[in-house]
Amino acid sequence: MSRKPIIAGNWKLNLTVDEGVALVQALAAPAAASKAEVVVCPTALGVHAVAKAAAGTAIGVGGQNCHWEEKGAFTGEISASLLKAAGAKYVILGHSERRQFFAETDETVNKRLKAVLAQGLIPLVCIGETLAERDGGKLEEILSRQVKGALAGFTAAQLSTLVIAYEPVWAIGTGRTASTQQAQDAHAFVRSVLRGIVGGLADAVRIQYGGSVKADNAKELLSQPDVDGALVGGASLKAADFTAIIAAA
Ligand code: 13P
Repeated sequence: MSRKPIIAGNWKLNLTVDEGVALVQALAAPAAASKAEVVVCPTALGVHAVAKAAAGTAIGVGGQNCHWEEKGAFTGEISASLLKAAGAKYVILGHSERRQFFAETDETVNKRLKAVLAQGLIPLVCIGETLAERDGGKLEEILSRQVKGALAGFTAAQLSTLVIAYEPVWAIGTGRTASTQQAQDAHAFVRSVLRGIVGGLADAVRIQYGGSVKADNAKELLSQPDVDGALVGGASLKAADFTAIIAAA
């Protein structure tokens, strides 16, 4: 089955609103020329202005996280409906930095996913093992637990827009990329887990690779049969770097 590659930039805690607007303007032409779906995920503060700047281009905008409740006394939080109203079409969920620094669990990812799907936003659900887990032979156990935990209670029909991002924690921001074979093997395994949950839809779910994706390794990673795109951190912050990755797709 052919799956449209999805290249997403996770800007994390970087770029002012103005810098984000300038970056999206610089990406408009490369995104229009690409066969891939191109997404940028600014800080919550930048979503509205960046989405405005991206309107009419081939670039979609996403949030980096959202709370599961829609509104109320939750100081400091934003909701899926606020992201949608600000122009977002995507939301990253369960990033390993959220799991590591902000106590995110499979259970809270599952609750957030419910809110995101209820708003008709496209979820980019992040999973991935630590180096200790991989070295301890627990890769499949961890990925399986994270996928099943995030998707618990949903029907295949509800998950028709789902995107999974496989990001080995040891490859994030370290300059150390998973080998092409390690990425393909993990992606194929994740797809087999998905098949057990959503049946035939597993062949339509896009699985992005993330972790030190750069211009010089993107093409090889993206050439793998089960690698359907990239979730890019550091190399998404400069127009030239991200453009090269978009072109590789
Ligand atoms: P880097 O590309 O900086 O390693 O970050 C990957 C990532 O965490 C994207 O979500």
